[in-house]
Formats: sequence, structure tokens, C-alpha cells
Amino acid sequence: MRPRTPPLRRFVADADRVGATAPAAFISIAVAWLGCCTAVAAAATRDPHSHAEPSQYVVRHAALDLETDFSAHRLRGAVDLTVERIAPTADRLLLDTRGLEIRAVGLRDAAGDVTPLEHRLGPPDPILGRALEIYMPAPTGATARQVVRVEYSTGPDATALQWLAPEQTAGRAQPFLYTQSQPVYARSWIPVQDSPGIRFTYEARIRTPPGLQAVMSAARDPRPSGTGEHHFVMPQPIPAYLVALAVGDLEFRELGPRTGVFAEPTVLAAAAHEFADLEAMLVAAERLFGPYRWDRYDLLIMPPSFPMGGMENPRLSFISPTVIAGDRSLVSMITHEMAHSWSGNLVTNAGWGDFWLNEGVTTYLERRILEGVFGSRLAAMELVLGRQYLDEEIADLMAAGKSSDTALALDLRGRDPDEALSNIAYEKGSLFLQFVEWRVGRAALDGFLAGYFRDFGFRTVTTAEFEAYLRAKLLARHPDAIGERELRQWLYGAGLPSGVPTVRDAALAAVEQQRDGWLAGRLETGELPVESWSPQQWMRFLDTLPDDLTDQQLAELAAHGALAEAGNYEVLRSWLLLAVRSDYRPADARLESFLVGTGRHKMVKRLYEELARNPERRALGCRIYAEARPGYHPTTQQMVDALLPDCDRI
Ligand code: BES
Ligand code: ZN
Repeated sequence: MRPRTPPLRRFVADADRVGATAPAAFISIAVAWLGCCTAVAAAATRDPHSHAEPSQYVVRHAALDLETDFSAHRLRGAVDLTVERIAPTADRLLLDTRGLEIRAVGLRDAAGDVTPLEHRLGPPDPILGRALEIYMPAPTGATARQVVRVEYSTGPDATALQWLAPEQTAGRAQPFLYTQSQPVYARSWIPVQDSPGIRFTYEARIRTPPGLQAVMSAARDPRPSGTGEHHFVMPQPIPAYLVALAVGDLEFRELGPRTGVFAEPTVLAAAAHEFADLEAMLVAAERLFGPYRWDRYDLLIMPPSFPMGGMENPRLSFISPTVIAGDRSLVSMITHEMAHSWSGNLVTNAGWGDFWLNEGVTTYLERRILEGVFGSRLAAMELVLGRQYLDEEIADLMAAGKSSDTALALDLRGRDPDEALSNIAYEKGSLFLQFVEWRVGRAALDGFLAGYFRDFGFRTVTTAEFEAYLRAKLLARHPDAIGERELRQWLYGAGLPSGVPTVRDAALAAVEQQRDGWLAGRLETGELPVESWSPQQWMRFLDTLPDDLTDQQLAELAAHGALAEAGNYEVLRSWLLLAVRSDYRPADARLESFLVGTGRHKMVKRLYEELARNPERRALGCRIYAEARPGYHPTTQQMVDALLPDCDRI
């Protein structure tokens, strides 16, 4: 038997109960919020990726009390869920779980006493996990709210958690733990209604080994914690996929009045330098889209195995260290995660089939913020490159017979959202808004977007609701801008409607000319004006070279462009991809250190794909992977395992 966890010492409780231990200012933000805005309409349609029944009960608040056990790789503790009964006859609460060990479920009264509740775990489903069915008594008194306490531990392979040994961190001295819950993995560390349409506030007490810092997508109790006990409160309601935790040897550096960065001590200075413009970006974003509603915006620089480029956890974006290029050339990734503070976190996709409302709108906003802070050159190049990726992705999906996945609104019933989500949501979604901008003018679109974020703030939207709102607020005033059929084709049709203008960018076009000159032998390698090339120009150049270059051409290019030393990971990846495609072996050592040094999914996927495809290079792929695998996130391991299934036999 594991020891019973002591009851959570609340420092901020739900709407009507406030504990006595937190500093007043810390509480007051929370109370102001909870007092006014926690009512969230139950999702109108059932989410196919959750067991939750929001027409019966809705979780309004979660109080987490968790201990991080780094030796057993488990979180252990309890969550107190404040649930509201929606249907007067409801008597069954369904929560999502995946791999959790449930120790006890009970009803907690105002005095903190807990009475056991009958419950059972449903059968496991590979995509949804297991439903936790809890049989509920009717609420007593005037309120429809009750507090359900679930005592639990996470399983050894919790999908959302990665436990890193000290050697897998930048500093190599302390272990590290982080969560990555989007899209459907919050349930692997919290028994909760894990559906983007259900929002709740939260608070947490996290106990860690002393000396480690815990951070969450929440306000941190400013009282110093040398004891390994960390307190958080999140006064703004968010869906479960945005509850996030990281624990490690972390330090903080302030960047502006509302902005700062957390990182391991060895990375902090480089991160602070790279992201010095963070506050300016936030100011630019607010000017475009309306007030920033989350109080603070900080970054957390993740260990190298973090599988994402970035994750928009509210108040605290999790950022891959591959974004630190040394020259601030990858800040578009930061403007992307920041933009999610409006599209995604404030106005959230109702289900994963509406993912484009998160990612497509965000990709459009990302480029607008970039333009606001750094001018139009960079934004224009990103637009052209984005179109290139979109055309490639549409062609790939069409060739694979998956044309219906090229629509913006997807029907994902019965499908694993992680497998169905693609670049289409990002680039077609963003191009759609760009298209609307071309048709109605920028000022009109900006007015529409600001209204959208205001009217749907802290709520969920479906594609159909977005469509109706767009018609009512924008297209009604610009009746000739977009045809009926055209609009439906954009939202529900495959591929792209005909007649979408292609964009050109002079800087990228210049590089294409230089490339053609070089390939035709009219330009010597030394004559390529690489000193003036931006990373985007480099990527265009490298990504569009043929596979049959000679070793000598590649060696000259590598030397002239100092490619093996490129600080920009995107450029480096493009170079290494070209090297693998062309079977250029002098780059093998750099390829190896690259693949061992980062586990970012997108960075490593194409490289392993190319290595796996070429029988000559498969053995190298296996050798590198054997070394790199322990440092990868389990989802990245799964992906590469599938690409290189027969490695132990090579
Ligand atoms: N929210 C996404 C990450 C994500 C998507 C997690 C789907 C789980 C499922 C995040 O905002 C994102 O898009 N990250 C990108 C980088 C971004 C700059 C385009 C990534 O990780 O590649
Ligand atoms: Zn995103």
C-alpha cells in the first residue's frame, strides 16, 4: 500500500473559498477572475476523442496535489475536481484516463472530509484510453457543484510525461520532467474531462526533490521554495491539453515587465539574448489583436529531446532549444507560440477536427506579428515558403489517396488525432486568412479578428460557428468579396480552390536564379553571395537542389557556406538532408551529432526517412539511432522504430 497523500493545503480554492496562506495580490487576480467568468457553455457536440459527457457534468476547477517520483518515474497524489451538474438527473461522471492507477475516489465536503464514491474503469481504447465512471449522489444545498477527489498515480509509460536522466539535459547534473499533453494525453497524468471544449481553472501543489524548480502553465506563488514544494494557480479557464508542468534545474531571467525566460543555467544567457525582443513582440501582438489576457508571457527552454518546436502552454510556452540560433533568426517560432495566446488558448478549437482554427489562424497571426516587429521582408519570405510547404503537403496527401485530409474541417471520428493532424491545418488555414485579407483588405480583416477574439474569448469554436461569424461580421459588409461556393470550398473542400494567387518574393527569386546559374556552371561556388543570404534564402537554395550533385560540388558548398557550423537548425537540417539525399559521406559525422543532439520530431523525421530509404545508408541510420534513441521522446522513438524496424538485424 502506498501512503495516503495528505489533503491539499489549498492556497486558492474554487470560486467561493480562498485559503489563508497566499500573498494578497496573488489571490486577488484569481478571485477577480473566478468571480466573473467561469461559466462556460457545455460543448454542443460530443467530442469523438473524449469519454466526457459535458451535457451531464462539467469540470470547473482542478486542484492538483502531486509528488514527482524521479526514481519510479511516476507522479503520485490526488486531484480535487470541482464539477457542476448540468443535467438535473445526471448521476454518472465520466472522466478520461490513460494508464492511470486509481487508488480511491471520493466526494469531498466543505470541511475537507471525503466519503468514498462507487466507481469503475471502463475497457481500454487505443485512442481514447479508459473512461473512469463515477457514480454521483445528487448535490446538496443551493449549488450544483461538488468536489470529487481522485487519488492516483501515473503509469510507467504515461504518454504525456518524459522523465529525463541528468545526462539527457543541457546541464547534465539534475533530472528533468515535463508534460506534453496536446492533443489527447492530459488524461495520462490527470483523470479529467480531456476535451478542448471543456475549460476549467486550476491550482496545484507540486512536491519535488529539493533544489529543483517546478513551473506550470499558471501563476507561480512568488514565495521562495527551497523545500521542494511549489504552488501554482491558474485563474483563467483552459482546456485540459493546456495544463502543463516541467521540473528541473531551472533559472529565470526577466526580459520585460510581463516577459521572461526559464532555462537550465547553462542555457539561460543564450536564451535571454536570443529572445530579447519578447516584450516588443507581445506589444506588437496586442496592437494587432487586442489585449493579452494571460497576465504574463514567459518561455521555458526545454531539453534537447523535446519533440515539438514549441508548445503554447498558457503564460509559459515550452520551446525547443533548436530555436536558439544565436542570431535571432528563428523567432517566428516564438511569435507562433505567442500568437496562440489569442488563437488556440483564448479561442479554442471545439474538437481536433477543427484544429485549423488553432494552427491556421495562429500561423497567419505569427506572420503578422513578425511583420510588426521585424518588417515585411521576413514575413514575405515566410509566406512564400509556407505556400511551398502547402503545395508539397497537398501533393503528398493526394498521392497517398488521402485527399479528404486536405480539407480544413476534418471528420476525425475513429481516428487518432495525432496521426491525422498535418501541415494542412497550418498552411492552408493561414492561406485562407491571407486570402480573406486580399479580398476584404487588411483593415477590415483586422477589425474582424479583434472582434472574434473579444466575442469568443475563453470559449470554443467549431468551423461552422466560425463560418457563421465570418459571414455575419465580415462578409455581410463585403458582399462581393468571396463567393458562396468559394468559401465552402476553402473550408470543407479538398486541395485549394482555383485561382488563389501565388506569392513571389524577390529575395527568394534571386536565390533561385543564383541556384540555376550555379547548377549550369555559370557561377562558381565562391561566387554565390552566401554572406548576404538569410536562413530562409539558404533553405530555399538547399531544399530545391537536385540529388545528383557531386561530392566536389557539395564539399565546395559546405566550405563556402560553413554549413556544418550553421547555428540555425533549420538550415542545418536542410543541409544534412541534402547530404543524405546525395549520399555525401563527409557530412556523416555532423549528421550523427545532429541526430544525437536533438530529438525534435520534425527535425529528425525526414532525415531518418531518407536514411531508411537508401539501402546504402540504412546501416548508418541504425548505428546513429542506436546511440540517439535513449535521448528521444517516446513518441519520437515510436516514429523512428517504425521507419527502421529491422535495425538489430543489420
Ligand atoms: N500546438 C503546436 C504543437 C502541437 C501540435 C502539439 C499538435 C501536439 C499536437 C505548436 O503550436 C506548434 O505548432 N509547434 C510547431 C512549431 C511552430 C513554430 C510551427 C512544431 O512543434 O513544429
Ligand atoms: Zn501552433
